Amino acid sequence: MKVTVVGAGAVGATCADNIARAALCQELVLLDIKEGLAEGKAQDMMQTAALLGFDTRITGSTADYAKTAGSDVVVITSGIPRKPGMTREELIGTNAGIVKGVCENILKYSPDTIIIVISNPMDTMTYLALQSTGLPKHRIIGMGGTLDSSRFKYQLSQHLGCSPADLNAVVIGGHGDTTMIPLIRMATWNSVPVTQLLSVDQQKQIVADTMVGGATLTKLIGTSAWYAPGAAGAALVKSILRDEKKLFTCCVSLDGEYGQKDICLGVPVTIGRKGWEKIIDIKLDNEEQAMFSKSAEAVRSMNEVLKTL
Ligand code: LAC
Repeated sequence: MKVTVVGAGAVGATCADNIARAALCQELVLLDIKEGLAEGKAQDMMQTAALLGFDTRITGSTADYAKTAGSDVVVITSGIPRKPGMTREELIGTNAGIVKGVCENILKYSPDTIIIVISNPMDTMTYLALQSTGLPKHRIIGMGGTLDSSRFKYQLSQHLGCSPADLNAVVIGGHGDTTMIPLIRMATWNSVPVTQLLSVDQQKQIVADTMVGGATLTKLIGTSAWYAPGAAGAALVKSILRDEKKLFTCCVSLDGEYGQKDICLGVPVTIGRKGWEKIIDIKLDNEEQAMFSKSAEAVRSMNEVLKTL
């Protein structure tokens, strides 16, 4: 198996590090346009192999896409990250050109690959990847909801005093501070509805903190977060390469599901060897459905911007 991670910044490098530690593939290529960055980080990671005991061969490349040939999965993290006070949406002008170029180069050498998009604004970049490559929809996966759902579980765990791994909770909709929808009504702690354990005020706080999860970290760190985004990307790579068919929230092309068409948006999907395989079309209540439609509207108007670039 071979995986490529495009972008050797903090998110890309962390994703690659997680993939190597889990020994998910024999070959792992880290690629960046900045001279020497990917080679350096790849070598640094390889120098952990003897300590951690993995056999994945990690190589770095400065924009030489020939080295990525035959990748089973490609994770795209390229683009500029947000600075404090910026929304993910403000990155569109710069990142659209970058992501489009990366997709073209990747497909020259790996026409059968599955693409995971992490670059922001993630919903629009996923839509762009789908439109510009013309790949079958099942092979384009946006990572956002996987990360947001993990952040949701973290917030819940802080109030419940429990292990985040014992929680089941999903965030659907867009990967934006105002477009994501943490479905607290359906969240459970090992099957116990969390709504029975938390006050209404606590529930509101958890949902609000989840929605600004990324922005909160950007403010604290001074740039966009990377540990959880990188781990979320690696979790998807694992489910693909091991054909786990795990259920994640991912940004995928909708064709009538959740009442939407011609858009990529976060919904629960199974992830396996063919990419995203099945959408779970959960029954939302009226309020949730209205939020989902509003989220779609916001993402759609964002996608419109692509036409003007
Ligand atoms: C975040 C970025 C990766 O949410 O979108 O941290």
